[in-house]
Amino acid sequence: MRILITGGAGFLGSHLSDRLLAQGHEVICLDNFFTGRKQNIAHLLDNPSFELVRHDVIDPFKFEVDQIYNLACPASPPHYQINPIKTTKTSVMGAINCLGLAKRVKARAFQASTSEVYGDPAVHPQPESYWGHVNPIGRRSCYDEGKRCAETLFFDYHRENKVDVRVVRIFNTYGPRMNPDDGRVVSNFIVQALRGQDLTVYGDGSQTRSFCYVDDLIEGFLRLMNQEETVGPINIGNPGEFTMLELAQKVIKLVGGKPKIVHKELPSDDPRQRCPDITLAKKYLDWEPTVALEEGLERTIAYFRKEIGA
Ligand SMILES: NC(=O)c1ccc[n+]([C@@H]2O[C@H](COP(=O)([O-])OP(=O)(O)OC[C@H]3O[C@@H](n4cnc5c(N)ncnc54)[C@H](O)[C@@H]3O)[C@@H](O)[C@H]2O)c1
Repeated sequence: MRILITGGAGFLGSHLSDRLLAQGHEVICLDNFFTGRKQNIAHLLDNPSFELVRHDVIDPFKFEVDQIYNLACPASPPHYQINPIKTTKTSVMGAINCLGLAKRVKARAFQASTSEVYGDPAVHPQPESYWGHVNPIGRRSCYDEGKRCAETLFFDYHRENKVDVRVVRIFNTYGPRMNPDDGRVVSNFIVQALRGQDLTVYGDGSQTRSFCYVDDLIEGFLRLMNQEETVGPINIGNPGEFTMLELAQKVIKLVGGKPKIVHKELPSDDPRQRCPDITLAKKYLDWEPTVALEEGLERTIAYFRKEIGA
């Protein structure tokens, strides 16, 4: 198949490109390089089945493709808050442009949605049937509400225009090729520990997150995209739940050295708990994560050691 990946030069997009090319598909990677990096896809540029297009998803695009993965959107709070209006436009216009193209060329369209659609959840762990608890006017709203609106568009194009869609709700994912400066907790802790700096924990560190290794997530993407039982939304994430303090301690143990943990004020709307209910992923995709946190952290630490020369 010929497959378009918007945001293909990002952390997840580059891993997805690797997997699809290994399966013998052609990949068109569309990216405006806001948070994506050329080095993530440098190893693919000589591959005749890989094509790179610098373009912004806010502006329409046309390609003859069989499938579209819509991943374009800054994913970490410091990045999506730099220009919040642009973040909403990226999610909403990007979804409209992908769906318009999917309708025209009869491609299957996949939306990378997020656990942020659940906001600061009142239900724990979060099943797909939970509608969420989201602040519509806060600092995180550009991302959360943009992604919620993108989901709405995917389901309206599906109902109204018979566009073939799949929607995944991604929970925190980590691994090699995360941007070292994008302020996500796993890369923050690892980079700080490798540089011998203190690890920054926001609040008292008792808030929890679940962390999925990137290879597990991409396997979930492919299974969801290539089955006929459900259009989603489907949670993909690792239900193993850890506090931020536990994560910091694990990173310190694996990296070595004697960094301290320092506490900073909790950002506004920071969710207290996050943990996916993956019953539907097990049922429809026969999917569950296989990489344990320590193993995934070791692989990620090895990547960052090379990356920052520590
Ligand atoms: N990694 C996670 O834990 C996670 C969790 C939930 C959802 N997601 C979603 O998965 C997708 C990929 O995330 P990621 O972790 O790879 O982040 P990333 O920042 O590494 O990748 C996003 C990519 O989209 C590109 N992009 C941003 N705005 C664009 C625009 N207007 N036009 C074209 N390209 C644009 C960026 O340059 C980058 O290459 C995002 O949609 C994100 O919201 C990721």
